[in-house]
Amino acid sequence: MEKKPINTNKIVVFTGAGISAESGLKTFRDNDGLWENVPVELVASKSGWEHDPEFVLSFYNQLRKDSSLVEPNAAHLAIAELERYFDVVVITQNIDNLHERAGSTHVIHLHGELNKARGVDDVSRIYDIGEKPIDLGDQCESGSQLRPHVVWFSETPFHIDSAKKHLGEAAYVLVVGTSLTVQPAASLLKKARYHAKKIIVTMDIERVPFGFTLLRGRATNLVPGVCQEWCEKCNSSS
Ligand code: APR
Repeated sequence: MEKKPINTNKIVVFTGAGISAESGLKTFRDNDGLWENVPVELVASKSGWEHDPEFVLSFYNQLRKDSSLVEPNAAHLAIAELERYFDVVVITQNIDNLHERAGSTHVIHLHGELNKARGVDDVSRIYDIGEKPIDLGDQCESGSQLRPHVVWFSETPFHIDSAKKHLGEAAYVLVVGTSLTVQPAASLLKKARYHAKKIIVTMDIERVPFGFTLLRGRATNLVPGVCQEWCEKCNSSS
């Protein structure tokens, strides 16, 4: 199938929990990460929900509260600033809304959003709940118990086709703060074009994806510099 031409003005930023770490939110697999303190199957699986829905609700209520008490950091802000010069799409595995709060206007959440809820048996309606908790007994309009609008293991992530499309068009791909251990999110990066400029900023990673340049370090130290360089290049060529 004929590939669409690269959009020379398009940037895709693909992020994981590491970009929010310096805002004060725990990652999943680092030391003292979320999955070190809570068994993932208890809070991020259908069986965990069926076993103890109240515990699952309290876990995400706490994450939602923690996320509301922190601010976007310099990496989020630099990515939002890219929109002054480029067509930017942020594809994130994160369920916090720090990209939106930093000013990014096109954010795709592959794993759902903490500030949204839906019925267990009714996915037709998604409710914006802001910072409010979800409690046992809270129901959607069709009478189904509300649950966080987040993707649990063995559930299908959202917007995969759209993410593939954007990655296949981008002239620049910036990956920030992800261990690239969760599929299918991690394999989306294979859609990045050979001639696209591809950089990954992270602290630890087992395998650098093909064609990507690894900048090892903190997102707030490295991402602003990458964004500034891309903006200056765009400015000088216009
Ligand atoms: N700056 C840059 N990178 C960082 C920083 C930082 N300050 N702190 C941590 N990192 C990096 C770590 O080195 C690691 O590579 O962020 C990554 C975090 O990895 P994970 O904890 O595995 O988070 P993530 O890759 O987002 O997990 C993907 O797994 O459990 C699921 O749904 C969950 O969306 C999540 C998915």
